[in-house]
Amino acid sequence: MPYPGPANRFRAGRMLAMSTAPTALPRVLSGIQPTADSFHFGNYLGATRQWVALQDEFDPFFFIADLHSITMSHDPKLLAQRTRVAAAQLLAMGIDPERSTVFVQSHVPEHAQLAWVFNSLTSFGEARRMTQFKDKSAKEGEGAASVALFAYPILQAADILLYRPQYVPVGEDQRQHLELTRDLAQRFNHRYKKTFKLPEPYILKETAKISDLQQPEKKMSKSASSPTGIVELLDDPKVSAKKIRSAVTDSDTEVRFDETAKPGVSNLLTIYSALTGRSIEDLEKAYDGKGYGDFKGDLADVVVEFVTPFRDRTKALLDDPAELDGILKRGAERAREVAARTLADVYDRVGFLKA
Ligand code: TYM
Repeated sequence: MPYPGPANRFRAGRMLAMSTAPTALPRVLSGIQPTADSFHFGNYLGATRQWVALQDEFDPFFFIADLHSITMSHDPKLLAQRTRVAAAQLLAMGIDPERSTVFVQSHVPEHAQLAWVFNSLTSFGEARRMTQFKDKSAKEGEGAASVALFAYPILQAADILLYRPQYVPVGEDQRQHLELTRDLAQRFNHRYKKTFKLPEPYILKETAKISDLQQPEKKMSKSASSPTGIVELLDDPKVSAKKIRSAVTDSDTEVRFDETAKPGVSNLLTIYSALTGRSIEDLEKAYDGKGYGDFKGDLADVVVEFVTPFRDRTKALLDDPAELDGILKRGAERAREVAARTLADVYDRVGFLKA
């Protein structure tokens, strides 16, 4: 599938690096929470698809953010299994553990350790300005939210800066957390000694925000979308097809990209274009005069074709949990080598007595 990958300038950099030290490739890092039984199309098109593509040009670190997933109420009986399912999905979509370091956040204790240091650099007002905290605490009220939910973006900054990556591939909803990350890196460098380089968000404009199928003005979300608004990669393909066919459009009949006037149709065009590599203009032409029924029916077929083999691959990987756990164990070992070096620098610069 044609894919808008990173600029070709990195290819030259890679060849140079390969001829001397392959580990000198610039790093990318990202994480995903194991808070649901499946990733959805927002996660995939907004973030993890870019992870797969970036493996070619970078030294990648990808992790399952289980520490983040306990910041809101969770079911301990489901967490370990969801963590494995998340790992299996990453492998099934093409993350290659030979090229990428894939691990579970809680297996690398340096994340929580660095987060504590960053807590000391973050003001209360700064943390309170995070819109995700406002959104996620709105339902129960700020007083009932956990301190961990409040500190969540600070842990995210630690996740990122431990590995000193160049890029962090995420969806638009993570942009503010990346700004905080850059601020904390700068503050640490300024207060102590230059330790961190500033990571850049890697957000693809076209798929930065995939919308809810029923409420296209909102993002597709594990926690906020109704079941009919969200398409899960591991759901029964027939159910996913039905959700696409019943997606909210508008009273018009024209298949045209216009996010303000036609947010539902535009969202479907985005998904269609991302899954097939066909341009939006090409799709608009192809459905000129045909109406929404044909358009949604064809997109439903595209989705089924994509999710069916993906589900099979994920299931096959889950049939061998020992193999999966081995990959995650080796990933955590590799991640710790990098993370421990960064944490040692930080502890030294903060002034902690050496153990
Ligand atoms: P999470 O688990 O909510 O989502 C994982 C990734 O999916 C993206 N995403 C979307 N992109 C486009 N449209 C949507 N509707 C949509 N919904 C989700 C998210 O932007 C994200 O990239 N805090 C992070 C996890 C995390 C992390 C990190 C990410 C923890 N530490 C360090 C990067 C670096 C989160 O909750 O993502």
